Amino acid sequence: MLERVLSTRRPTQFSEEGDEDDESKTRKNVTFAMRATKQMSKIGFLWPFLLLFLLLLVISVVSHSRNIVCVSSYGTESYSRMSFFGIDGLDSDFGSLGVPWCRSKHGRTVEWTSKDLLQGLEEFVPIYETRPIKNNMYGMGFDHSFGLWFIARWLKPDLMIESGAFKGHSTWVLRQAMPDAQILSLTPRHPEKYLKKGPAYVDPNCTYFAGKDFIDFGSVDWESVMKKYGITDLNRVLVFFDDHQNELKRLKQALKAGFRHLVFEDNYDTGTGDHYSLRQICDQFYIRGGGHSCFADSDEARIRTKRKKFWEKAVDIEELCGPGEAWWGVRGQMRDDFNHSNKAISYAEHFQNSRFVESVLDVYWELPPVAGPSLTHQTRYDPARVQTPLVEDGRFGFFQRLGLTRLETSVFNGYTQMVYLEISQPGS
Ligand SMILES: C[S@@+](CC[C@H](N)C(=O)[O-])C[C@H]1O[C@@H](n2cnc3c(N)ncnc32)[C@H](O)[C@@H]1O
Ligand SMILES: *[C@@H]1O[C@H](CO)[C@@H](O)[C@H](O)[C@H]1NC(C)=O
Ligand SMILES: *[C@@H]1O[C@H](CO)[C@@H](O)[C@H](O)[C@H]1NC(C)=O
Repeated sequence: MLERVLSTRRPTQFSEEGDEDDESKTRKNVTFAMRATKQMSKIGFLWPFLLLFLLLLVISVVSHSRNIVCVSSYGTESYSRMSFFGIDGLDSDFGSLGVPWCRSKHGRTVEWTSKDLLQGLEEFVPIYETRPIKNNMYGMGFDHSFGLWFIARWLKPDLMIESGAFKGHSTWVLRQAMPDAQILSLTPRHPEKYLKKGPAYVDPNCTYFAGKDFIDFGSVDWESVMKKYGITDLNRVLVFFDDHQNELKRLKQALKAGFRHLVFEDNYDTGTGDHYSLRQICDQFYIRGGGHSCFADSDEARIRTKRKKFWEKAVDIEELCGPGEAWWGVRGQMRDDFNHSNKAISYAEHFQNSRFVESVLDVYWELPPVAGPSLTHQTRYDPARVQTPLVEDGRFGFFQRLGLTRLETSVFNGYTQMVYLEISQPGS
């Protein structure tokens, strides 16, 4: 998360508020078109000429890209369009570099649909606007807040356990989803400590394992804690991890305690982040977008080099690959505890880890980003490694109707593939 917020957003000419234009909402070339219209408002008298010019451009590009379809396997249409405009790589061709995911035992997936998610989104925006911590730098932004709220509200757990609370924003999110459920929060520094300096959220009905009472998730005697809180069905417990610990370690600890529903906030992509994540673990050759080549002349290397110029979190082959062409985890390392610990692992070990995860996995579900980058103006994650957003680029009218234009753009900069897992003992 540190890494996520420290780097500043790329300034863009089209990031000003209040001069959006809706007329391009359903056109394919919207990214460019929207930027262009924004520019137009600044040069009012040239408006009609520019509009005509733009129209001609769009027409010529559409015919241009038709001519060269099927040249490359990575989103040909959009690449040609973008090189035409000279902004190659800024295009949001979601998933074009593959979106790794974890195979589950029986191929099950979640019950909710994208319609449910969109309905939830509409409901959540006004709730999010009332959040006590407006600037949650180093903590969760909008996308993950929505995801956590949605999952908690859908599952309706009796008890929610949170590991890593910081100022308490996620505790607040959990409370909005489930006003009457119990919450246990494990975090070294009590959120009340932050109240002295500024906004924080301390929940009156949450039990804090914080300060001198802090205890790591892996050291808790969960059986007796569950007894104490009257929980007999562990199926009714949701565990949320935002503590930057090795997710394989957390998964094993949760499994041992018998928990079944887990959410991991920071599900970092391969080559990024400060702890070994589910997505990293499942990044394997047999998964589309998984397994990487450290060969500098590969298609992947070329595309990554381009995209790195436009997306802050994108990594090129040089960053992806460590000594001995080790690409798994982060340059062949399994990071843990905010990168305070990192251990080189072999490819065989990495492969075994994914096999283990598959053996306990019933559901793996990555939250999609809420909206495309031409709408949110996010500049951090590379859409090429991410699934299609809930509100696609070009649907500005919809984005606005959902109330999303009312939010500051910085809240959209924290997406790191939050994941919901359902797990059970191997063989079951
Ligand atoms: C990224 S912040 C959490 C952000 C928060 N969930 C939010 O909504 O903004 C990570 C938190 O994990 C805490 N932390 C560090 N080690 C931890 C551990 N072993 N168990 C639980 N929390 C830990 C840190 O003190 C910090 O508050
Ligand atoms: C705490 O939870 C109890 C039981 O659900 C409820 O009656 C009470 O109003 C809650 N207190 C606060 C401050 O929310
Ligand atoms: C993580 O730790 C390793 C080893 O100490 C170090 O080389 C690397 O630069 C660190 N990365 C980050 C992002 O802090």
